[in-house]
Amino acid sequence: MQAQELRRAWTDFWTARQHTDVPSAGLIPLHPSAPMFTNSGMMPFVPYFIGEEPVPYRPPRASSIQTCVRAGGKHNDLDAIGRSPRHLSFFEMLGNFSFGDYFKADAIRWAWEFSTEVLGLDADRIWVTCHVDDDEAAELWVDEVGFPAERIQRLGKDNFWEMGDTGPCGPSSELFWDFGAEHGPDGGPANPAAENRYVEYWNLVFQQYFRLGDGSLKPLETRNIDTGAGLERILGVTIGSPDVFQTDELRSLVAAAEQATGVRLGTASESDVALKLLADHARTMTFLVTDGVVPSNEDRGYVLRRIIRRAIRFAYLLGVEKPITPRLSEHVVGLMGEAYPQLVASADTVQAVLGREEEQFRRTLRSGLTILDAALAEVPEGAPLDGTVAFTLHDTYGFPLDLTQDALRQRGISVDTDGFTAAMERQKAEARANWAGSGEAATETVWFAVRDRVGPTEFLGYETEAAEGVVTALVGNGSEIASAEAGDSVAVVVNQTPFYGESGGQVGDTGSIRGEGFEIAVTDTQKKGDGVFVHLGKVVSGRVAVGAPVELKVDSRRRAMIRANHSATHLVHEALREVLGTHVAQKGSLVAPDRLRFDFSHPKPIAAEELERIERLANEVVRQNEKVTTRLMAVDDAIAEGAMALFGEKYGDEVRVVRMGTALHGDKAGRPYSVELCGGTHVGATGDIGLVRVVSEGAVAAGVRRIEALTGEAALEHLDEQERRLKAVASALKVSPAEAVTRLEAVLEERRRLERELAEARRKLALGGAAAASEDGAAAGESVNGVGFLGKVVAGIPPKELKSLADAGKTSLGSGVVVFVGTAEDGKASVVVGVTDDLTARFSAVDLVRLASAAIGGQGGGGRPDMAQAGGPDGAHAAEAIAAVRSALG
Ligand code: SER
Repeated sequence: MQAQELRRAWTDFWTARQHTDVPSAGLIPLHPSAPMFTNSGMMPFVPYFIGEEPVPYRPPRASSIQTCVRAGGKHNDLDAIGRSPRHLSFFEMLGNFSFGDYFKADAIRWAWEFSTEVLGLDADRIWVTCHVDDDEAAELWVDEVGFPAERIQRLGKDNFWEMGDTGPCGPSSELFWDFGAEHGPDGGPANPAAENRYVEYWNLVFQQYFRLGDGSLKPLETRNIDTGAGLERILGVTIGSPDVFQTDELRSLVAAAEQATGVRLGTASESDVALKLLADHARTMTFLVTDGVVPSNEDRGYVLRRIIRRAIRFAYLLGVEKPITPRLSEHVVGLMGEAYPQLVASADTVQAVLGREEEQFRRTLRSGLTILDAALAEVPEGAPLDGTVAFTLHDTYGFPLDLTQDALRQRGISVDTDGFTAAMERQKAEARANWAGSGEAATETVWFAVRDRVGPTEFLGYETEAAEGVVTALVGNGSEIASAEAGDSVAVVVNQTPFYGESGGQVGDTGSIRGEGFEIAVTDTQKKGDGVFVHLGKVVSGRVAVGAPVELKVDSRRRAMIRANHSATHLVHEALREVLGTHVAQKGSLVAPDRLRFDFSHPKPIAAEELERIERLANEVVRQNEKVTTRLMAVDDAIAEGAMALFGEKYGDEVRVVRMGTALHGDKAGRPYSVELCGGTHVGATGDIGLVRVVSEGAVAAGVRRIEALTGEAALEHLDEQERRLKAVASALKVSPAEAVTRLEAVLEERRRLERELAEARRKLALGGAAAASEDGAAAGESVNGVGFLGKVVAGIPPKELKSLADAGKTSLGSGVVVFVGTAEDGKASVVVGVTDDLTARFSAVDLVRLASAAIGGQGGGGRPDMAQAGGPDGAHAAEAIAAVRSALG
């Protein structure tokens, strides 16, 4: 069967069964819950599945042939393209849909009818899978169409289809074609080793649930049908080839690639990969640009750019020097324009866009070649190119070794690959040495071996928090292991991951890794050995082995808090520079879920009003709630545009530039508020930060200050706590919070007044007591050899009040010497001696206080001739101190 024939048969079959034939929607999905690209036939119908909009078809049934792209997010087949016989980044999905109308029985019966009667497939070579919990579907296969129970297999997550991280989902039943024993072992689709033999060609999904952002499932109002059959795979089945590149349209595209490159399919396995990749990517780029995506450094545009550049790189390696993408695109239009008339309408624009992109990328490739040429001038006749030069090209300019070799092959020059490998080893050894020097355990070198074997991990966490992958290495107790069991602590490496590995101050993600029969709780993620993401955790159930397919899920609540704190760090950084000056430079940071910490250069403490302004500016940008944008650019361009970079930090040749908000004040008004080079994860829009609250400011080293701040919920909790405290203070003061400060000031003033009064009362009491004593004829207020004398032991008077007592005593005597010894509860004593001015020529208070001090076990004392003070440990001898002074007058 040919593509156009199958399309017609499909539409006719369903129209005869009261299905409205709905034309393919674009590749940019409209529904807010949808992923980046339309990845299946059901996507345009999401509003009907979830009851958001009334179904416009009578009866509520539809069929379609929908263009799909799987090149990012949950359904991403990009890496398999060209190497897998059946994966495509662009394909057409045949689908029939019921919105609360017919359900499993009809869906199964009609799928069978179409397979056996329209396609004419041999019933004995079809296999079926159903979800483990869906007995109903399995029974219907037997009852409705007499399908043999022994060819029905039951699977777990493979029989549960989901549109994306959120959105409609449900159990499914899949139809498989057995391509025969020459393609793999027996055992049916449940045997993973037989995946090239039993190939899925149709998926019947029983859409019954909606996956919410928190991961839970909500039942839908209606029970729906969503089936999807890959057009290319069915064609493969009808022509008896599991290789979809043998089907008519793709074969024709491969032929176009053969023509453009001058290389034939079957020449070598690497060039076969390139030809198939060109055939696939040609359709993907043509349809994406037709549907309005343009190559750029963001979102969809970035995925498109990667697809175009990948195609060009592969073509370049096959020796293609002239632009190839517009030419392939033209071929796509010729081939598919009848089925998709929009291709014809926009063909010129699409080819122009592709041409421009290719020209630009070829310039990058050429600049690599210019550097190569300069290096070649130094190479003696007949000698190979120095391996270190090839390594620098690869390492610094992103110009791969195979491109270098290829460029030189044409000039008959070889590359010293041993030198290249040696240079690479040297760099790794240096990294290792730096690592060892950083105090990491020597066992950590195991990660370099892992890195050498499995390569760096692809990080998906900017776009998604859940993804699928395959375990590529396990490490336990410092060495590689083949498997780990429940209870074991383990470090897990997966080929790709949404988990952020700790770096740039941002802590690593936590979450779970699940596979068939096992689960691992991830408590931290670290980057090791130059690009390997290591999930650290514990096997909580089952047994995990290297090679196991897994589903990785980041703890998204925690990640959301981390994102808010990271974005807030950028805002605080910029606000600090705005308020304190541009000398503020980042010295360190910590971005954790519960708080953020930022260290920066600044010579003195931040005043309270400055801190308030900093907080205010940051929150102003939070409230702008503008989208946070990230772009990949060349380092130099980014810095030229004013992006803040960390001095001494090593950046790759491409950097991520994160922009936030719009400046409202000063010279920068109207320009982005914060622009930083950053590899971290950030909020979608600044409003997601909620609130920024600085909670502390202090010094960490000379000239380096530290700010700690909270965001969102944590900031709110902090404010609540502050408010609770204020209320408690107000209630203790018995006033409203608004009156608390005035009341507290009044209370403090009252306290000062009382202290003054208390001191005065004590003084009066002491003097009064002294006067009374003198009346009694005791040793006070007497005349000793014609010198007036007042001496008194006073208990419980603090030393600072003794002086004013002495002053008062001098005044009341008029002329004479006074001595007061104050005794404290702990047994110590202090003594003050005062001499009126007329007598200072005869007696020095300093000499007298020494005598007194000696009596109470003290040493010396000090002051002036008219007033001196001392202390001693021995309050019990207070009376002797007075006597000592008295006798000195004699
Ligand atoms: N949505 C399901 C799939 O893409 C069936 O259409 O496989």
